[in-house]
Order: sequence, then structure tokens, then C-alpha cells
Amino acid sequence: MVTFTVNGEQRSVDAPPMERLLDVLRHQLGLTGTKEGCGEGECGACSVLLDGELVNSCLVPVGQVAGASIRTIEGLAIAGEMHPVQASFLKHGGAQCGICTPGMTLAAVRLLEHNQHPSLQEVREGLSGNLCRCTGYMRIFEAVRLAYGPDEGAG
Ligand code: FES
Ligand code: FES
Repeated sequence: MVTFTVNGEQRSVDAPPMERLLDVLRHQLGLTGTKEGCGEGECGACSVLLDGELVNSCLVPVGQVAGASIRTIEGLAIAGEMHPVQASFLKHGGAQCGICTPGMTLAAVRLLEHNQHPSLQEVREGLSGNLCRCTGYMRIFEAVRLAYGPDEGAG
């Protein structure tokens, strides 16, 4: 058994230690918001926060997360209220097929925890591990940049 916290709840799973965290989240815990794209660490679709750091869950053996705290896309909204990044993706048209969206959103949450008003370049760097085949990125970057509103001090 491996025990860890997911979105604030303690969970125990019966899984071989080398099983991918991605599969445990999706198949054992029913958290299908975390997507699989490449399955080899290139696309970021499977991104989750592991003790606050962005990781590709397709590369993380579940045995490594014993005692850790995981945050997935399902843990972002609070009491039915979207996280500001989610609301901004909706407002600015940052999502199309949605395969990349959960990973992009978590990468953005991680970035914005440190800097609520990033420049376009900082957004590009913060999301550089997340690929999108649909949107051409500009709407996504705009959604992330404006998640906490325009920077009143910029200019
Ligand atoms: S599915 Fe994990 S990085 Fe692509
Ligand atoms: S919205 Fe389709 S891959 Fe990004």
C-alpha cells in the first residue's frame, strides 16, 4: 500500500511501487482530469503538483510519492468556485480540445504563486514544458497573464 494526500484528502492505494502516478490517479482514484499525451515526459499533459512542484505524473513511480501531497486539476476549484486561472482560461478562450488544459492550468498556478503579474516572456518560460496542438498558445498565454487582472503598476 502507498499512502499520500491528494487534493487535501489522504488516500491509500494498492499498487506496485513502479506503477506510474498518472495511472494510479486516473484508474484507481478516478481523477481523470489528469491527461495522458506522450507518456514519456515531453508534453506536460499529465502535469500535477507534487509537494508544490510541477511534475510529469507519467514519469513518477507511485512508490516515490509515499507521504507526499499531490494537487490535481480536480483540487483547484473551491466550493464550486473556479480557480482564477480556470476562470481566465474560460474568459479568454484558452482551451479547445482540453487535453493540455489541466497541465497548463497547474503550470500556470505554480507560476502565478510566485508572480501574479508575469510578463509574456515569463509566461512562456513557466509553461515551456506544456505543449498544445490546438490553440497556437497566444490565447493560453493571455489567459495566464491576465488571471489576476491587468498589472496596474505596469507601463
Ligand atoms: S503524458 Fe506525461 S509528459 Fe506527456
Ligand atoms: S487545447 Fe487541444 S491540445 Fe491544447
